[in-house]
Amino acid sequence: MTREKFVVEGLGGAKTLRGAVAVRGAKNAALKCLAASVLFEDTLVCTNVPDIEDVRRMGELLQVAGAEVTTKDGVVRVSPPDFAQATSGKPNSAEATSGKPSAWNTSLDQTIAKRMRASIVMTGPMLARMGEVSFPYPGGCVLGERPIDLFLAGFTALGAKIVEADDFFTVRAPQGLRGAHIFLPIVSVGATETLMFAAALAHGETILENVAMEPEIVAEAELLNACGAHIEGAGSPTLRITGTGGVPLKANGAVFSIIPDRLEAGSFLILAALAAEDVTVTKCEPKHLQAVTSSLARAGVSLEIGTDTIRVRASEKPYQSVSVRTHEYPGFPTDLQAPMAVFLSQCEGDATILETIYDGRFRYAEDLRRMDADMTVMNPHQVLIRGPRKLERANLESPDIRAGLAYLIAAIIAEGTSSVDNAYLIDRGYEHIEDRLSSLGLHIKRESSN
Ligand code: UD1
Repeated sequence: MTREKFVVEGLGGAKTLRGAVAVRGAKNAALKCLAASVLFEDTLVCTNVPDIEDVRRMGELLQVAGAEVTTKDGVVRVSPPDFAQATSGKPNSAEATSGKPSAWNTSLDQTIAKRMRASIVMTGPMLARMGEVSFPYPGGCVLGERPIDLFLAGFTALGAKIVEADDFFTVRAPQGLRGAHIFLPIVSVGATETLMFAAALAHGETILENVAMEPEIVAEAELLNACGAHIEGAGSPTLRITGTGGVPLKANGAVFSIIPDRLEAGSFLILAALAAEDVTVTKCEPKHLQAVTSSLARAGVSLEIGTDTIRVRASEKPYQSVSVRTHEYPGFPTDLQAPMAVFLSQCEGDATILETIYDGRFRYAEDLRRMDADMTVMNPHQVLIRGPRKLERANLESPDIRAGLAYLIAAIIAEGTSSVDNAYLIDRGYEHIEDRLSSLGLHIKRESSN
């Protein structure tokens, strides 16, 4: 694959961007809804799905597992192996190659699973539907240690048996999963989703306590409930799930729209605060963005919040620093930590960011220091930012999906022409970012970095 980079002509601190930028469907909801399609006996249709690398990888993971996946104009259709065969009258590819009756292939594709952590969320639906799943230790963005102990403990509590050899796991529950009372010692988005999906088809009731409350989880529970699941409490710390006793879910032709990406919206707001004369972020859900909008407003950013739009206009007064503490939803999202650090480098005064979810998420500080930002990593969880500092051009390399966008924002506000290499990492999370930002009046293009 050719390596690509973004080349950005910096505005040198000028606030000139004008226009509207629309938010796409949430990556983190789309990936999980697609993974949940394994719970279905018929075709799941999702709309407003972002056209990004991670969604393509999830589609491939499903195809390798035997599903038929089609994607067109933000609409993704996933049909389970047996259903695809029944409706087309032809054996599907899984059956054609194996010669066995078609069913889900319960061994997740190792290459994709190792590259994308979200792949682990498919283990819950696969175990619930097929009574078995095997998978390698999942990879993903390097954000410090990312264990899977909560997933494994949850599967065991639901009655499954786990065999591990060389970082490869086989989980079996041939008689089906049985409901359990599970307390998650750490709030985890992925573990909440995976166990919620697994428990949806279990025998009996499952109570999951201390779960994540992210809006994506609420949307996923609504999708499942509309198709035969019984999940109560999504958006609160306790989920009560009455399993279907092995009966798969049924979409019955319904179409599900993926909620707007609050992380993309938050990044656009930060960009607009730093570089806009007058920019409106459209197709967003302001209710999901309160931690971000309240911090920006406290710093002095002029925000006009509508039903599904947020308008940002340049203000005469300099912004004042505000300290931020990342937290599970509804707190300040860890995924907006790096863009927020760029914002704080432009505010008057000192601010700290306290990262409570990951260690190892301040790798951006060194790169931004090369642009002349004043950032000191105090310890693996805290960075001190002193502003305001004019940023200088630099050639950067994106370290992960979210910091990659922060680098683009830094390049946009800096003096001179900068480049952000490793565009692939930004493409994993953001759809055609250069086209969308160009429409606001920026000069940003994609080039081969060879
Ligand atoms: C999801 C998001 C990611 C976001 C993160 C936290 C997706 C695809 N990704 O990631 O963008 O940064 O939520 O908001 O939705 N943990 C354990 N044991 C486990 C599982 C997790 O100790 O078995 C820990 C993690 O190391 C981390 C914390 O729990 O410190 C939270 O991680 P988690 O919420 O699970 O993150 P993801 O679901 O991977």
